[in-house]
Amino acid sequence: MPNLVALVARLDPVEEDAWLAALTAVMPNENVVLFRTLSPSRRCDVEIAIVANPDPADVARLPSLALVQSLWAGVERLVSELGPSAPPIVRMFDPEMARTMSEAVLAWTYYLQRDMPAYARQQREKLWRQLPYRKPSDMTVGLLGLGALGAAAAQRLTQAGFKVAGWSRSPKKLPEIESFSGEDGLAALLRTSDVVVCLLPLTSETRGLLNASCFAMIKPGAALINFARGPIMVLPDLLSSLNSGRLSHAVLDVFDEEPLPATSPFWAHPNVTVLPHVSAPTDLTAAAKVVADNIGRFRRGEHILGVVDRSRGY
Ligand SMILES: NC(=O)c1ccc[n+]([C@@H]2O[C@H](COP(=O)([O-])OP(=O)(O)OC[C@H]3O[C@@H](n4cnc5c(N)ncnc54)[C@H](OP(=O)(O)O)[C@@H]3O)[C@@H](O)[C@H]2O)c1
Repeated sequence: MPNLVALVARLDPVEEDAWLAALTAVMPNENVVLFRTLSPSRRCDVEIAIVANPDPADVARLPSLALVQSLWAGVERLVSELGPSAPPIVRMFDPEMARTMSEAVLAWTYYLQRDMPAYARQQREKLWRQLPYRKPSDMTVGLLGLGALGAAAAQRLTQAGFKVAGWSRSPKKLPEIESFSGEDGLAALLRTSDVVVCLLPLTSETRGLLNASCFAMIKPGAALINFARGPIMVLPDLLSSLNSGRLSHAVLDVFDEEPLPATSPFWAHPNVTVLPHVSAPTDLTAAAKVVADNIGRFRRGEHILGVVDRSRGY
């Protein structure tokens, strides 16, 4: 009898089937089944849940659960909804996602460096005007978060010639990157960065972190990219900072409410680029291999990469 693994997800049926097929293909020795197809007695045989936006009540219906593997990198909802007594949660830690995110950070940094928002505006106004060129080496990109995604983005930006600074919870020493931590470090990064990129997890410490006092510290005319989670920024404060011209532009991929409601002032703001949460889409095949590797490690009693530290919340 192969090992029973439950896929517990609130996804649309096509996406759910695609995940089931991808996971089954890479784990021939495991029996991956949809949670909703399990009878109450078979639920007792499930040791591992693979989850994507699960109903916490479904996870609680698996009494023998010893491991929860998330299909997503951001686990803030899982951590808060499953509570402290849940088994270890493993977040998605996929090199392909880090590559995709670093590509997005570089692409949208170039968008700002080459003044594409301004040239788009000028075209609408039929205005032929050359703006001063800024070299990457004359610009500092400040990364909030130097984890799996932040570190990959930092490397890609330095390779492209940008000066890079980074801020993390624990102090770091990384080649060619000016690293900061703590409140003073955050202030120093905000004061010196031409582009600030948010790649922090959403935790009790980072919720509302980017507020009016942070925007007041930001280098005048700097731009902001948020590829992490919407609630890390206080949106009315961001809007004021954009309206006052302190911030020149914001590229926003994540919001408090998604899809972004039609009434949001960000849709039509001339200095905002709205993206529909696309900076690092999950690659099904690559992610399924990461899951298979982790489950193999679990079965062999080996160390698993990406176990969430409940006290930190990420
Ligand atoms: N938009 C998208 O499509 C998309 C896709 C994937 C992920 N994401 C988001 O990106 C986030 C980051 O992912 P990741 O894999 O890079 O996470 P990670 O590896 O856990 O790294 C998190 C980084 O943030 C730092 N950090 C956490 N709390 C902090 C605090 N209070 N003060 C200062 N620094 C703090 C950590 O510091 P230490 O290094 O000291 O621990 C670490 O450097 C995810 O949580 C998710 O929300 C978005």
